[in-house]
Amino acid sequence: MVQQRIVGPGAVRAVGRLTIMEITTRPITANETVSFREAIMAGFGEDLDDEDFPPEWFADLIPLDRTVAAFDGDLIVGTLAGFPFEVTVPGGALVPMAGTTVVTVAPTHRRRGVLSTMMREHLDDGVRRGEPLVGLWASESLIYGRFGFGVATEHDEIELDQQRVSVEGDAGSVRFVDVDEAMQLFPPIYDEERRRRPGMLSRSQKWWEHLFQDPRSRRRGFSSLRLALAETAGVGDGYAIYRQKADWETGFPNGTVSVRELIAPTAAAHTGLWRFLSSIDLFPQIKYWNLPVDDALRWKVPDHRRVTRRRWDALYLRILNVVQALEARTYSVDGTLRFTVADAFLPEADGSFELTVAGGGGVCRRIEGTATDLRLDAADLASLYLGGHSAIALAGAGRIRGTHDAVTVAGRMFRGDVEPWCEEVF
Ligand SMILES: CC(C)(COP(=O)(O)OP(=O)(O)OC[C@H]1O[C@@H](n2cnc3c(N)ncnc32)[C@H](O)[C@@H]1OP(=O)(O)O)[C@@H](O)C(=O)NCCC(=O)NCCS
Repeated sequence: MVQQRIVGPGAVRAVGRLTIMEITTRPITANETVSFREAIMAGFGEDLDDEDFPPEWFADLIPLDRTVAAFDGDLIVGTLAGFPFEVTVPGGALVPMAGTTVVTVAPTHRRRGVLSTMMREHLDDGVRRGEPLVGLWASESLIYGRFGFGVATEHDEIELDQQRVSVEGDAGSVRFVDVDEAMQLFPPIYDEERRRRPGMLSRSQKWWEHLFQDPRSRRRGFSSLRLALAETAGVGDGYAIYRQKADWETGFPNGTVSVRELIAPTAAAHTGLWRFLSSIDLFPQIKYWNLPVDDALRWKVPDHRRVTRRRWDALYLRILNVVQALEARTYSVDGTLRFTVADAFLPEADGSFELTVAGGGGVCRRIEGTATDLRLDAADLASLYLGGHSAIALAGAGRIRGTHDAVTVAGRMFRGDVEPWCEEVF
């Protein structure tokens, strides 16, 4: 049997019958990036492919001091890193959020606390940097609750059949652009949408450059990326990035349009892009993996059941600093809420708080003693934070405990006008 114990910050010691194995953790150095990238791919069960996972991606997007590697001797057996994002919160403020990524532990070293140790370092790093939030997309939904992450956004995976769907409403025009023009025109449209929709992430110039890099290995049998710009009165006001795959198996054209991203801050752009995507000859199947849950599309389609939807969990959030996080967002109704947050993984974020909302703005402070009006775990506060979930539903599941009045106030306060959505798996 293998036993383990934590022997100090950043170290896990596992004692086997014949071997003593000590795991240490630290950020990687520049000349360790190749072995770090190899360890990431091995953790996901794949081989390192420089085209699919280019070395520049790492150098451009992940600062070395935001990496955590777990070493068994010289061998990297665990990986984790953070993108320096800003995330939009209700009200439109852009809040620093480490985007946790490339989380892996070698199959030979799992279930010995390696991830727990790396996560502790990662969260401590966020606290040191004064960043109130950490966010991630989970490969499996059971992994991260124990670390205080709660699901904060969801999305709908949709399919349409062009023969059964028509998209109604006024629309502008749509034209193709090349990468150079897209690099100019797409980011401002994206930023306009990002300022109104909680859960969306900042994108650096480098991020856009990597998004448009389109190696064959990422296409999985589909075409290269198509870049479509919507215009109203000659001004770009929306875009769609998609791929196509022809299919003649039945003797009839049955191709698929697969949307990677569609951003349409105006109704005309939204209608124009969806009408365009659902009317391309030979490609009657339209799929989008990531429609916002409050998207207007199905209200523009007379037979709205024909927009088939499957809902998935998306961005998981972890709050590192309750006061800072709660004061960054706005609220739907005024009032006062006293609540206790239980945070088993990060005791410094545990405690009782008072949130007073006036004119939509919140003032939050720690209070003495234990507030009993409302009690919840850190992960459930994170689920409420972007406004995408109902406190009443969480109370119905027994996850939030409290008085009827406090649950009702929390329910109204935290929900927003725009459903949160995260545009990209990272
Ligand atoms: C997920 C992964 C990183 C976990 O690493 P690990 O070092 O085995 O995790 P730990 O030993 O620190 O586990 C901590 C706790 O989480 C639990 N846990 C870990 N992985 C889990 C999983 N996939 N599902 C459910 N629970 C899990 C452990 O049982 C343990 O629970 P305990 O404290 O009650 O004993 C590892 O299994 C892995 O690399 N998986 C493949 C890649 C992947 O999916 N990465 C996540 C990308 S988002």
